[in-house]
Amino acid sequence: MLIDILTLFPEMFDGPFDHSIIKRAIEREIVKIKLHNIRDHGVGKHKVVDDYPYGGGEGMVMMPEPLHNSLKTLNIDKDTPVVLLTPQGRKFDQKTADDLAKHKRLVFICGRYEGVDERVRQHMVTDEISIGDYVISGGELAVMVVVDGIIRRLPGALGAEIEQDSMMNGLLEFPQYTRPAQYEQWEVPPVLLSGNHAEIAKWRRQQSIERTAVRRPDLLKNAELSASERQYIEDEMKDK
Ligand code: ADE
Repeated sequence: MLIDILTLFPEMFDGPFDHSIIKRAIEREIVKIKLHNIRDHGVGKHKVVDDYPYGGGEGMVMMPEPLHNSLKTLNIDKDTPVVLLTPQGRKFDQKTADDLAKHKRLVFICGRYEGVDERVRQHMVTDEISIGDYVISGGELAVMVVVDGIIRRLPGALGAEIEQDSMMNGLLEFPQYTRPAQYEQWEVPPVLLSGNHAEIAKWRRQQSIERTAVRRPDLLKNAELSASERQYIEDEMKDK
């Protein structure tokens, strides 16, 4: 996969992409990430990238021209998603990560300042994504979240790590424990020490379901559950 990121702050990406799973995926050539500084296509001698909003008001707006010219240098074909990170986009989730992970190439545009000229939305991007209902200072941190979520879904990216982690089945993860079996007076649930793999799997599944029902009941609608599991939730929740 090739990921192009258009940003005014390419230096922000130095740390996050140099570690752990993303670093390894880059080393294994599962993914290539190219950073493009929008300012390289800024207007005029001063490489201007933003201007005052028509109609007045606070703050600056990113101009269409530097973004358009940045995009033109990428030679993207019409099937390549061009994604703007913005709090106005649809909310990022596991399904979106999985869908985006199927593409050979992705382009991300990091918005900054008070926003981007509306013509960027109308004519240059195919998709708008938000990482949640809050505003952060720009699309850079948001694209890091999104790109991490996508790369871990690429075949071969996880290696020794589990490929089936939380959310893959639409449920929250079960509780995890490691040594010691007793710390202070806090004990690990005995079933996990039993060596009975069928019992352990059953316990974990039940914990996942209960935890999701209590903390994120909104996820149950799309979770992979059997008819008896759905019945179980209904019965349990009646008493709560
Ligand atoms: N830029 C600012 N806030 C954002 C958010 N919540 N998601 C994506 N991009 C953003």
